[in-house]
Amino acid sequence: MSFKTIEYKGDSVVLIDQTKLPSKEVYAVCKDYKAVGRAIKNMLIRGAPAIGVAAAMGVAIGAAGIVADDFDTFKKRLDKICDHLSQTRPTAVNLFWAIDRMQNVVEANRGKSVKQIKKALIAESKRVLKEDISICKLIGANGADLLDDGDNVLTHCNAGALATGGYGTALGVIRGAHSQRKKIHVYADETRPFLQGARLTAWELMKDNIPVTLITDNMAGHLMKKGLIDKIVVGADRIASNGDAANKIGTYTLSVLAKEHKIPFYVAAPVSTFDFNIRTGDEINIEERDTAEVTHVFGKRIAPENVSVRNPAFDVTPNKYITAIVTERGVLRKP
Ligand code: MRU
Repeated sequence: MSFKTIEYKGDSVVLIDQTKLPSKEVYAVCKDYKAVGRAIKNMLIRGAPAIGVAAAMGVAIGAAGIVADDFDTFKKRLDKICDHLSQTRPTAVNLFWAIDRMQNVVEANRGKSVKQIKKALIAESKRVLKEDISICKLIGANGADLLDDGDNVLTHCNAGALATGGYGTALGVIRGAHSQRKKIHVYADETRPFLQGARLTAWELMKDNIPVTLITDNMAGHLMKKGLIDKIVVGADRIASNGDAANKIGTYTLSVLAKEHKIPFYVAAPVSTFDFNIRTGDEINIEERDTAEVTHVFGKRIAPENVSVRNPAFDVTPNKYITAIVTERGVLRKP
Protein backbone atom coordinates (compact mmCIF):
# COMPACT_ATOMS: atom_id res chain seq x y z
CA MET A 1 0.00 0.00 0.00
CA SER A 2 1.20 3.53 -0.64
CA PHE A 3 0.05 4.61 2.83
CA LYS A 4 0.16 3.13 6.31
CA THR A 5 -3.11 2.98 8.24
CA ILE A 6 -1.36 2.75 11.59
CA GLU A 7 2.06 1.96 13.03
CA TYR A 8 3.95 2.01 16.31
CA LYS A 9 6.83 4.32 15.48
CA GLY A 10 9.49 5.27 18.05
CA ASP A 11 7.44 5.95 21.16
CA SER A 12 4.30 7.10 19.33
CA VAL A 13 1.29 5.56 17.62
CA VAL A 14 1.06 7.16 14.18
CA LEU A 15 -2.10 6.87 12.12
CA ILE A 16 -3.46 8.37 8.94
CA ASP A 17 -6.17 10.85 9.96
CA GLN A 18 -9.22 9.45 8.15
CA THR A 19 -11.37 12.46 9.01
CA LYS A 20 -9.16 14.55 6.71
CA LEU A 21 -9.27 12.20 3.70
CA PRO A 22 -9.48 12.49 0.77
CA SER A 23 -8.50 16.16 0.63
CA LYS A 24 -5.51 15.88 2.99
CA GLU A 25 -3.21 12.93 3.61
CA VAL A 26 -2.01 13.79 7.11
CA TYR A 27 -0.86 11.60 9.97
CA ALA A 28 -1.88 12.00 13.61
CA VAL A 29 0.84 11.30 16.17
CA CYS A 30 -0.50 9.86 19.44
CA LYS A 31 1.93 10.19 22.31
CA ASP A 32 -0.23 8.53 24.98
CA TYR A 33 -3.17 6.17 25.37
CA LYS A 34 -5.68 9.00 25.83
CA ALA A 35 -4.74 10.37 22.40
CA VAL A 36 -5.23 6.88 20.91
CA GLY A 37 -8.61 6.66 22.67
CA ARG A 38 -9.64 10.02 21.22
CA ALA A 39 -8.50 8.92 17.74
CA ILE A 40 -10.76 5.84 17.98
CA LYS A 41 -13.74 7.70 19.44
CA ASN A 42 -13.54 10.57 16.94
CA MET A 43 -12.93 8.12 14.08
CA LEU A 44 -9.52 9.34 12.95
CA ILE A 45 -9.09 5.59 12.79
CA ARG A 46 -12.15 3.40 12.24
CA GLY A 47 -13.18 0.03 10.81
CA ALA A 48 -13.36 -2.98 13.13
CA PRO A 49 -9.92 -4.57 12.57
CA ALA A 50 -8.14 -1.18 12.52
CA ILE A 51 -9.88 -0.27 15.78
CA GLY A 52 -8.51 -3.55 17.20
CA VAL A 53 -4.96 -2.70 16.13
CA ALA A 54 -5.29 0.83 17.52
CA ALA A 55 -6.59 -0.51 20.84
CA ALA A 56 -3.65 -2.94 21.11
CA MET A 57 -1.22 -0.09 20.41
CA GLY A 58 -3.11 2.13 22.84
CA VAL A 59 -2.63 -0.45 25.58
CA ALA A 60 1.06 -0.76 24.69
CA ILE A 61 1.73 2.98 24.73
CA GLY A 62 -0.32 3.32 27.91
CA ALA A 63 1.74 0.59 29.56
CA ALA A 64 4.97 2.29 28.50
CA GLY A 65 3.91 5.41 30.40
CA ILE A 66 3.09 3.63 33.68
CA VAL A 67 5.40 4.40 36.59
CA ALA A 68 5.41 1.29 38.78
CA ASP A 69 8.03 -1.13 40.07
CA ASP A 70 5.89 -4.06 41.15
CA PHE A 71 3.56 -6.22 39.09
CA ASP A 72 0.37 -5.56 41.07
CA THR A 73 0.60 -1.76 40.85
CA PHE A 74 1.46 -2.02 37.15
CA LYS A 75 -1.45 -4.38 36.49
CA LYS A 76 -3.93 -2.16 38.38
CA ARG A 77 -2.91 0.89 36.33
CA LEU A 78 -2.98 -1.07 33.09
CA ASP A 79 -6.50 -2.31 33.81
CA LYS A 80 -7.61 1.34 34.14
CA ILE A 81 -6.08 2.11 30.74
CA CYS A 82 -7.85 -0.90 29.22
CA ASP A 83 -11.10 0.24 30.77
CA HIS A 84 -10.65 3.72 29.30
CA LEU A 85 -9.96 2.35 25.81
CA SER A 86 -12.86 -0.08 25.98
CA GLN A 87 -15.30 2.85 26.38
CA THR A 88 -14.42 4.41 23.03
CA ARG A 89 -16.74 2.54 20.65
CA PRO A 90 -19.14 -0.26 21.60
CA THR A 91 -20.01 -2.23 18.46
CA ALA A 92 -16.82 -3.56 16.86
CA VAL A 93 -15.87 -6.61 18.90
CA ASN A 94 -12.27 -6.36 17.67
CA LEU A 95 -11.72 -3.54 20.19
CA PHE A 96 -12.49 -5.84 23.13
CA TRP A 97 -10.74 -8.79 21.49
CA ALA A 98 -7.51 -6.77 21.18
CA ILE A 99 -7.69 -5.45 24.75
CA ASP A 100 -8.23 -9.00 26.07
CA ARG A 101 -5.29 -10.23 24.04
CA MET A 102 -3.04 -7.53 25.53
CA GLN A 103 -4.26 -8.33 29.06
CA ASN A 104 -3.42 -11.98 28.47
CA VAL A 105 0.14 -10.96 27.58
CA VAL A 106 0.45 -9.24 30.95
CA GLU A 107 -0.75 -12.37 32.76
CA ALA A 108 1.52 -14.63 30.72
CA ASN A 109 4.52 -12.50 31.76
CA ARG A 110 3.61 -12.27 35.46
CA GLY A 111 7.03 -13.38 36.70
CA LYS A 112 8.94 -10.83 34.60
CA SER A 113 10.01 -7.28 35.40
CA VAL A 114 7.72 -4.36 34.58
CA LYS A 115 10.26 -3.22 31.99
CA GLN A 116 10.12 -6.62 30.27
CA ILE A 117 6.32 -6.65 30.31
CA LYS A 118 6.20 -3.20 28.72
CA LYS A 119 8.49 -4.46 25.95
CA ALA A 120 6.36 -7.57 25.46
CA LEU A 121 3.23 -5.41 25.09
CA ILE A 122 4.76 -3.21 22.40
CA ALA A 123 5.94 -6.32 20.54
CA GLU A 124 2.46 -7.85 20.83
CA SER A 125 0.74 -4.75 19.45
CA LYS A 126 3.07 -4.80 16.45
CA ARG A 127 2.22 -8.49 16.02
CA VAL A 128 -1.51 -7.71 16.05
CA LEU A 129 -0.91 -5.29 13.16
CA LYS A 130 1.28 -7.69 11.18
CA GLU A 131 -1.12 -10.58 11.67
CA ASP A 132 -4.08 -8.44 10.63
CA ILE A 133 -2.46 -7.66 7.29
CA SER A 134 -1.72 -11.37 6.66
CA ILE A 135 -5.27 -12.30 7.69
CA CYS A 136 -6.72 -9.77 5.24
CA LYS A 137 -4.60 -11.22 2.45
CA LEU A 138 -5.94 -14.70 3.27
CA ILE A 139 -9.50 -13.35 3.29
CA GLY A 140 -8.73 -11.84 -0.10
CA ALA A 141 -7.37 -15.09 -1.47
CA ASN A 142 -10.30 -17.12 -0.08
CA GLY A 143 -12.90 -14.68 -1.36
CA ALA A 144 -11.39 -13.99 -4.77
CA ASP A 145 -12.94 -17.14 -6.25
CA LEU A 146 -16.41 -15.85 -5.40
CA LEU A 147 -15.98 -13.04 -7.91
CA ASP A 148 -16.03 -13.56 -11.68
CA ASP A 149 -14.25 -11.74 -14.46
CA GLY A 150 -16.35 -8.73 -15.43
CA ASP A 151 -18.33 -8.53 -12.16
CA ASN A 152 -19.82 -5.30 -10.89
CA VAL A 153 -19.47 -5.46 -7.13
CA LEU A 154 -21.30 -3.21 -4.71
CA THR A 155 -19.70 -2.40 -1.35
CA HIS A 156 -20.84 -0.28 1.56
CA CYS A 157 -18.84 1.88 3.96
CA ASN A 158 -15.09 1.23 3.93
CA ALA A 159 -13.87 -2.27 4.67
CA GLY A 160 -10.53 -1.63 3.01
CA ALA A 161 -6.90 -1.04 3.88
CA LEU A 162 -7.96 1.99 5.91
CA ALA A 163 -10.32 -0.13 8.02
CA THR A 164 -7.70 -2.78 8.78
CA GLY A 165 -3.94 -3.02 9.29
CA GLY A 166 -3.82 -2.92 5.47
CA TYR A 167 -5.35 -4.60 2.38
CA GLY A 168 -8.90 -4.83 3.77
CA THR A 169 -11.62 -7.43 4.22
CA ALA A 170 -14.40 -6.68 1.69
CA LEU A 171 -11.93 -4.68 -0.39
CA GLY A 172 -9.42 -7.48 0.29
CA VAL A 173 -11.75 -9.85 -1.60
CA ILE A 174 -11.94 -7.31 -4.42
CA ARG A 175 -8.15 -6.84 -4.37
CA GLY A 176 -7.74 -10.63 -4.40
CA ALA A 177 -9.90 -10.99 -7.53
CA HIS A 178 -8.22 -7.98 -9.13
CA SER A 179 -4.80 -9.52 -8.56
CA GLN A 180 -6.05 -12.68 -10.33
CA ARG A 181 -6.44 -10.33 -13.32
CA LYS A 182 -10.22 -10.46 -13.21
CA LYS A 183 -11.84 -7.27 -14.41
CA ILE A 184 -13.79 -6.09 -11.38
CA HIS A 185 -15.70 -2.85 -11.27
CA VAL A 186 -16.79 -1.55 -7.87
CA TYR A 187 -19.85 0.51 -6.99
CA ALA A 188 -19.09 2.32 -3.73
CA ASP A 189 -22.01 3.47 -1.61
CA GLU A 190 -21.42 6.98 -0.31
CA THR A 191 -22.39 5.81 3.21
CA ARG A 192 -24.21 8.63 4.94
CA PRO A 193 -23.73 10.16 7.43
CA PHE A 194 -19.95 9.71 7.86
CA LEU A 195 -19.28 9.23 4.12
CA GLN A 196 -16.74 6.42 4.47
CA GLY A 197 -17.62 5.20 0.96
CA ALA A 198 -17.26 8.56 -0.76
CA ARG A 199 -14.24 9.74 1.18
CA LEU A 200 -12.31 6.53 1.88
CA THR A 201 -13.35 3.60 -0.36
CA ALA A 202 -13.30 5.70 -3.53
CA TRP A 203 -9.93 7.17 -2.50
CA GLU A 204 -8.16 3.90 -1.74
CA LEU A 205 -9.53 2.03 -4.79
CA MET A 206 -8.52 4.87 -7.10
CA LYS A 207 -5.03 4.81 -5.57
CA ASP A 208 -4.84 1.11 -6.55
CA ASN A 209 -6.30 1.71 -10.03
CA ILE A 210 -9.31 -0.48 -9.31
CA PRO A 211 -12.27 0.89 -11.29
CA VAL A 212 -14.82 2.45 -8.95
CA THR A 213 -18.07 4.35 -9.41
CA LEU A 214 -19.49 6.32 -6.51
CA ILE A 215 -23.24 6.28 -5.83
CA THR A 216 -25.36 7.67 -3.02
CA ASP A 217 -26.89 5.04 -0.75
CA ASN A 218 -30.41 5.47 -2.13
CA MET A 219 -29.27 4.59 -5.67
CA ALA A 220 -28.32 0.99 -4.85
CA GLY A 221 -31.81 -0.49 -5.25
CA HIS A 222 -32.26 1.13 -8.64
CA LEU A 223 -28.94 -0.27 -9.89
CA MET A 224 -29.85 -3.75 -8.63
CA LYS A 225 -33.21 -3.61 -10.39
CA LYS A 226 -31.46 -2.58 -13.60
CA GLY A 227 -29.22 -5.67 -13.36
CA LEU A 228 -26.08 -3.59 -12.85
CA ILE A 229 -24.89 -5.30 -9.64
CA ASP A 230 -23.57 -8.89 -9.78
CA LYS A 231 -22.35 -9.33 -6.19
CA ILE A 232 -22.32 -7.44 -2.91
CA VAL A 233 -19.36 -7.66 -0.52
CA VAL A 234 -19.30 -5.87 2.83
CA GLY A 235 -17.30 -6.08 6.06
CA ALA A 236 -18.58 -6.64 9.59
CA ASP A 237 -18.12 -5.18 13.06
CA ARG A 238 -19.44 -8.11 15.05
CA ILE A 239 -20.82 -11.48 13.97
CA ALA A 240 -23.02 -13.44 16.38
CA SER A 241 -22.74 -17.24 16.80
CA ASN A 242 -25.71 -17.74 14.48
CA GLY A 243 -24.10 -15.69 11.68
CA ASP A 244 -26.10 -12.46 12.12
CA ALA A 245 -23.68 -9.66 11.24
CA ALA A 246 -23.52 -6.06 12.42
CA ASN A 247 -22.05 -3.65 9.91
CA LYS A 248 -22.36 0.00 8.92
CA ILE A 249 -25.89 1.40 8.95
CA GLY A 250 -27.51 0.69 5.59
CA THR A 251 -26.05 -2.79 5.19
CA TYR A 252 -29.29 -4.48 6.28
CA THR A 253 -31.24 -2.55 3.63
CA LEU A 254 -28.80 -3.75 0.97
CA SER A 255 -29.14 -7.36 2.11
CA VAL A 256 -32.94 -7.29 1.78
CA LEU A 257 -32.65 -5.71 -1.67
CA ALA A 258 -30.07 -8.34 -2.63
CA LYS A 259 -32.50 -11.11 -1.67
CA GLU A 260 -35.26 -9.55 -3.80
CA HIS A 261 -32.91 -9.30 -6.80
CA LYS A 262 -31.21 -12.67 -6.22
CA ILE A 263 -27.77 -11.09 -5.87
CA PRO A 264 -25.17 -12.99 -3.77
CA PHE A 265 -24.47 -11.10 -0.54
CA TYR A 266 -21.07 -11.77 1.04
CA VAL A 267 -19.66 -10.67 4.38
CA ALA A 268 -15.85 -10.64 4.67
CA ALA A 269 -14.33 -10.56 8.16
CA PRO A 270 -11.53 -12.04 10.26
CA VAL A 271 -12.36 -14.71 12.85
CA SER A 272 -11.69 -12.05 15.54
CA THR A 273 -14.93 -10.34 14.43
CA PHE A 274 -17.00 -13.33 15.62
CA ASP A 275 -18.48 -12.96 19.08
CA PHE A 276 -19.25 -16.46 20.30
CA ASN A 277 -20.50 -15.03 23.60
CA ILE A 278 -23.69 -13.93 21.91
CA ARG A 279 -26.21 -16.14 20.20
CA THR A 280 -27.90 -13.72 17.81
CA GLY A 281 -27.49 -10.23 16.41
CA ASP A 282 -30.20 -8.94 18.76
CA GLU A 283 -27.57 -8.94 21.51
CA ILE A 284 -25.23 -6.59 19.64
CA ASN A 285 -24.82 -3.14 21.19
CA ILE A 286 -25.46 -0.64 18.40
CA GLU A 287 -23.56 2.62 18.79
CA GLU A 288 -25.63 5.80 18.61
CA ARG A 289 -23.45 8.69 17.52
CA ASP A 290 -23.70 12.46 17.80
CA THR A 291 -26.79 13.82 16.01
CA ALA A 292 -24.63 16.55 14.46
CA GLU A 293 -23.34 13.90 12.02
CA VAL A 294 -26.87 13.86 10.57
CA THR A 295 -27.84 17.52 10.87
CA HIS A 296 -24.53 18.86 9.57
CA VAL A 297 -22.33 18.17 6.56
CA PHE A 298 -18.73 19.34 6.99
CA GLY A 299 -19.78 21.72 9.74
CA LYS A 300 -22.68 23.23 7.77
CA ARG A 301 -26.19 22.73 9.12
CA ILE A 302 -28.52 21.09 6.60
CA ALA A 303 -31.54 20.42 8.85
CA PRO A 304 -33.76 22.74 10.89
CA GLU A 305 -32.62 23.66 14.41
CA ASN A 306 -34.10 21.38 17.10
CA VAL A 307 -35.32 18.70 14.67
CA SER A 308 -35.54 15.27 16.30
CA VAL A 309 -32.71 13.03 15.01
CA ARG A 310 -31.58 9.39 15.33
CA ASN A 311 -28.07 8.31 14.43
CA PRO A 312 -27.50 4.56 14.87
CA ALA A 313 -24.08 3.85 13.36
CA PHE A 314 -24.67 0.15 12.61
CA ASP A 315 -27.43 -2.31 11.78
CA VAL A 316 -27.66 -6.08 11.90
CA THR A 317 -28.07 -8.25 8.82
CA PRO A 318 -29.85 -11.51 9.71
CA ASN A 319 -27.96 -14.65 8.66
CA LYS A 320 -30.77 -15.60 6.28
CA TYR A 321 -29.72 -12.78 3.94
CA ILE A 322 -26.02 -13.68 3.96
CA THR A 323 -24.88 -16.01 1.17
CA ALA A 324 -21.49 -16.71 2.79
CA ILE A 325 -18.99 -15.29 5.27
CA VAL A 326 -15.42 -15.07 4.00
CA THR A 327 -12.75 -15.49 6.69
CA GLU A 328 -9.02 -16.18 6.74
CA ARG A 329 -9.83 -19.83 7.46
CA GLY A 330 -12.18 -20.30 4.53
CA VAL A 331 -15.64 -19.50 3.23
CA LEU A 332 -18.49 -20.26 5.65
CA ARG A 333 -21.82 -21.20 4.19
CA LYS A 334 -25.07 -22.01 5.93
CA PRO A 335 -25.13 -25.41 7.62
O1 MRU B 1 -18.08 3.41 11.90
P1 MRU B 1 -16.96 2.71 11.17
O2 MRU B 1 -16.41 3.49 10.04
O3 MRU B 1 -15.90 2.22 12.12
O4 MRU B 1 -17.67 1.44 10.56
C1 MRU B 1 -16.93 0.58 9.75
C2 MRU B 1 -17.70 -0.54 9.18
O5 MRU B 1 -18.88 -0.68 9.39
C3 MRU B 1 -16.92 -1.56 8.38
O6 MRU B 1 -17.68 -2.06 7.35
C4 MRU B 1 -16.50 -2.69 9.33
O7 MRU B 1 -15.88 -2.18 10.46
C5 MRU B 1 -15.60 -3.66 8.67
S1 MRU B 1 -14.04 -2.97 8.36
C6 MRU B 1 -13.03 -4.13 7.67
